[in-house]
Amino acid sequence: MKSPMIKTILPGPRARKLIEKDGTYVSPSYTRYYPLVVEKARGLWVHDVDGNVFLDFTAGIAVCATGHCHPRVIKAIKAQADLLLHMSGTDFYYRPQIVLAEKLACLVPGKGGKKVYFGNSGAEAVEAAFKLARWHTRRELNLAFYGAFHGRTMGALSLTASKTIQKKHYNPLVPGITHIPYAYCYRCPYNLSYPQCSLGCVDWVEDTLFRTTIPPEEVAAIIVEPIQGEGGCIVPPPEFHLKLYKIAKKYGILYVVDEVQSGMGRTGKMFAMEHFGVDPDIIALAKGIASGMPLGALTALAEVMDWEAGSHASTFGGNPVSCQAALVTIELLEEGLMDNAVVQGEYLMAGLREFQQSFECMGDVRGKGLMVAVEFVKDRENKEPAREWRNEIIKKAFQKGLLLLGCGENSIRFSPALTVTAAEIDECLSIFDDVVKEVAG
Ligand SMILES: Cc1ncc(COP(=O)(O)O)c(C=O)c1O
Repeated sequence: MKSPMIKTILPGPRARKLIEKDGTYVSPSYTRYYPLVVEKARGLWVHDVDGNVFLDFTAGIAVCATGHCHPRVIKAIKAQADLLLHMSGTDFYYRPQIVLAEKLACLVPGKGGKKVYFGNSGAEAVEAAFKLARWHTRRELNLAFYGAFHGRTMGALSLTASKTIQKKHYNPLVPGITHIPYAYCYRCPYNLSYPQCSLGCVDWVEDTLFRTTIPPEEVAAIIVEPIQGEGGCIVPPPEFHLKLYKIAKKYGILYVVDEVQSGMGRTGKMFAMEHFGVDPDIIALAKGIASGMPLGALTALAEVMDWEAGSHASTFGGNPVSCQAALVTIELLEEGLMDNAVVQGEYLMAGLREFQQSFECMGDVRGKGLMVAVEFVKDRENKEPAREWRNEIIKKAFQKGLLLLGCGENSIRFSPALTVTAAEIDECLSIFDDVVKEVAG
């Protein structure tokens, strides 16, 4: 069985030199948990510039859904690169953008025709959703959630409420957004318990917010992640979205769903919102959509995407090479990777839940499919967040050849490629077990 192979002190000599140069020339705004300098990668296996081999449970922040450099994706990219690299789908037509739009429009749940807008990233998809909601409704207000991460452009950042560092010194942001508590049941903002609470957090929107400060007829959209990603992989109760969606529909408010992280098969369904029985009005997509090629997409009901020529566009959006990568990515997801996400996700969660029995510090294990996280606490009783342990575990895992990332204040996320095998999960769990024992056992 394949295992990580660490043969230098980390970072190795080549990595150290590059990191030094990075410090001189690259923006200091990036957050690197550990000094990994990647040379090449295949599947879940990442080689650094010094020849060390790592097992990747980050998939490049939930992007490489089909594994690093899947041969069919690479073949499609090379073939398209020989034909056409760019023409700009905003001013001209080309086949890959049109074919991908048709494919996405057919995949999106719900009755009625759909239309697709293309950008280059998650933030651009959210930005477009934000603008489209205003355009279509002619309303100025929006609701978003505490813990949400929607991206870093000014509009998307205004909707974000994850960490203050993301907003510091950038005010004033886009006005008219009210953040409300998400159904984070492990730490209920209302100190209630599910299911006895009957989702009081949703009732509060109609019974308090819409009666006191926010006239619902002025709200364009509720913008929400089906499962909060950066916020800590928070899975709301099964009826949360449907209950909220019904309130939205009652007042003519658009239900705008950010599936940038949860979409494209990661949770075992093409769109995570399918677990919750809601057909959104607008969906923002990016990350896993093109296996690592930059692409963002926005799908909307055709009657909602009613903006006119010139009202929104992007030079690079819907790049032909990215679109071809997306078409093959979707094929692979449909051929079996989504099913694999269900099977392996359950296997991973079962392994983590078993560890949870013996490790007091593993306060909560949660997720859907291969969107999984562990929240670390000092003790189970008072749930004091164990942020330093979390950080230490991630660093030590790296030293042993396992790549992990944090999310929320004190959680670790597991977001491997959807090609992950049971053997790779065993390897991940074995390293994770060792490291948790060392740090907090
Ligand atoms: C749910 C969600 N929305 C939007 C974004 C922003 O995507 P990008 O970094 O591609 O702009 C992210 C990125 O992590 C995300 O997780």
